[in-house]
Amino acid sequence: MAAIGFIGHLPSFICHLQPTLSLRCLITAGPTREFFDPVRFISNPSTGKMGFALATAAKEAGWSVDLVAGPVSLSDPAGVMVYPVVTAAEMQRQTDALFGACDVLIMTAAVSDWRPKSTAPQKMKKDGQGLTVELEPVPDIVTALAEERRTDQFLVGFAAETENVEANALDKLERKGLDLIAANSVAGSEGAFGSDHNKLILLGRNGFREVLGPASKAAVARQLIDVIARLVAARAS
Ligand code: C5P
Repeated sequence: MAAIGFIGHLPSFICHLQPTLSLRCLITAGPTREFFDPVRFISNPSTGKMGFALATAAKEAGWSVDLVAGPVSLSDPAGVMVYPVVTAAEMQRQTDALFGACDVLIMTAAVSDWRPKSTAPQKMKKDGQGLTVELEPVPDIVTALAEERRTDQFLVGFAAETENVEANALDKLERKGLDLIAANSVAGSEGAFGSDHNKLILLGRNGFREVLGPASKAAVARQLIDVIARLVAARAS
């Protein structure tokens, strides 16, 4: 549950300060891997950098942080509980287990949208022929969590888009039952995947819109944690 240190009218010289919030935050990061045999999988180029930067920024803001991370090559942020997972099913089980205890959920993970319908028990042999792999949709983790959320919880999603960035993100905000969505373009060489920089368009309820960056992912992460703290405090007051 959120504990609020101070809220109210502040002298103008400190009015830039955010209320001190002691929040418990659950962050997902990185890609998932969906295997069709023991050594081959479907995935995406997510590196987890944005989610790890958010975990670091949230920890620095004094929050307690659980980080559910798909396969990434990043060091664990100091003071953060990291739960490594590989598949979307594992990510769903782990986030389900941790969701009830969190005040804020930030789903940065690039969860696979499809997975092979079956996984061969042994490595499949090449036979010079093509291969058809039947895929099934992966259940949407954040949509399911939004259906069982408490009203005091604050849910943030990410929308990586290659076109119509804001319209597609707004659609996801509604459809997935989120409080805030961070839209970014992953089109072309300027795309967010793997980059150390990012630009986020934040879209929320009641027409809320704010642009963060372009700046380093670390700087954008600190700004996003500030925005979330502000919106959670405003809702609680
Ligand atoms: O639909 P799309 O994948 O673009 O939605 C992105 C948002 O939804 C992200 O916050 C992502 O973590 C979340 N998501 C999810 N479960 C999925 C796919 C995406 O929670 N199966």
